[in-house]
Parts: sequence; C-alpha cells; structure tokens
Amino acid sequence: SANIEQDVIVSRPIVIGHRGASGEAPENTRASFKLAAEQGSHMVELDIHMSEDGKLIVCHDDTLDRTTDISGAIRSLHSDVIRGADAGSWFSPAFAGEQVPFLEEVYDLLPKHVEINVEVKDSGGALFDEVLLNYLRGDNRMDRTVVSSFDHKLLHRLKQAEPELRIGLLYAADLIHHASYAALLETEVWSLHPEHSLIGADDAMDALAAGLRIYPFTANHPADWDPLISIGVTGIITDYPARLKEHLERS
Ligand code: G3P
Ligand code: CA
Repeated sequence: SANIEQDVIVSRPIVIGHRGASGEAPENTRASFKLAAEQGSHMVELDIHMSEDGKLIVCHDDTLDRTTDISGAIRSLHSDVIRGADAGSWFSPAFAGEQVPFLEEVYDLLPKHVEINVEVKDSGGALFDEVLLNYLRGDNRMDRTVVSSFDHKLLHRLKQAEPELRIGLLYAADLIHHASYAALLETEVWSLHPEHSLIGADDAMDALAAGLRIYPFTANHPADWDPLISIGVTGIITDYPARLKEHLERS
C-alpha cells in the first residue's frame, strides 16, 4: 500500500551535533562534545587542523583568533601554545578554562556508540594524511568515523591510501544530480553532506537508492528540519541536538 511505501522511504534521521552542541556550549570543546552526547546525539561533527608540531587540533577556523583568548594560525603554532589558550570564555564565563582539544581526546571522551564526523579543514598534505590515517586505523576507530571535507580531491587521496575509510562529500553548490556527482569520484563514497537547502526529494531518493547516506548541514530550526525529515535524509547536522531530538520525537 501507499503507507508501506512511505514507511520504507521515510525513516527518522539521526541527530548530529555540529561542533558538539555548539548552540549551547563553546564549539569544538570537550564541554560541547560531552553535552552533545548527553543530549543523545548519534554522531558529532568536528573540524581539524594540524599544528606546527604535527598534532591534530580540533578547531573550526585556521586561526585561534575568534574562539580563544590568543591569536595566530594553528599551522604555525606549537601544540603547547595552543593548549594554553582558553577556548571557553569567549562563549561564556561559565566555560572559562576549556582547552582546544586534540582529536584523540574527543574519541576518548565520547561513548563508543557515538559516531564522529571528522571534517578536514586544513591538510598539510602527505604528513597530514599519514598522521590522520595512522590515528584512525587504531582501536576500532574506522567504523565509528566518517571523514568529510569540501576538498573532494583530498578525500579521494585518503580513500586510495585507506580503502576502509568512510568518506563524506561536503558541498554548498547546487549540483545537477547529487548521486551522479558522487559517482564521478570513482571511489566508494559513504555519505553526502549538502548545505541543507540544496537537496530535494528526487535527489535524496536517488542518493539513498545508490546506497549513499545524506547528512545535510547546518539546520537549526523546525522550518529547516521538516523538509529534510520528509525527504528521508539519514541524519541532520545541527547546533542544537537536544531541540532536534525533541522535535523528531514529536513528529
Ligand atoms: O560539516 C558541516 C559543516 O560543518 C560545514 O561547514 O563551515 O560549519 O565547517 P562549517
Ligand atoms: Ca565543520
């Protein structure tokens, strides 16, 4: 019947905490990831850069200027300096003393059932690839991770180096056909991460039929969630995981 067909096509999306629960805690800090997990996020999204001494640093911008009390480009700072920065006070005095995390700290902090969407913001090329893949290969991390980026060439390179890696294509462009674009990459793509207003019902259906997951970003309001829910996306990336969870439970 029509009802059965609809049940198959439309399943409830998972909740993905953007930079943790960044609407309610300072983005990309341990406090933010902890809150996202407590609020029932199935996955968290975070951004990574590499420090001058080759450590994977969780931060959105290239520099520490906006989200900490010090300034400077992450790639030219030693991790000891980065660790001395206060990444919480800019958001609220209640979070004073939060540090800029290392990637491994976020993995250690989150319960094992919480998946992690690692967005590569700034790659240092071959060294970066090696450090990231070496880390992800350890301790059953690969199967709780999707590595996403707007740089699809970089994702292709990582996937060639590590075929087990799940890669997610981030894009804010209005593609002619989303699933066909993914196929052009000529390597297995795990998920599509379109800007949330760019994917419609037909593209979503074709992508799901092609075995792709769909994780649109960053949707923070019911008016943006509802169309995504109705086209059956796999997950929604939001700054407000608790609000989204409550909304999904009501809808
Ligand atoms: O991963 C989705 C989203 O985070 C991409 O944009 O600028 O928030 O990193 P941005
Ligand atoms: Ca991001």
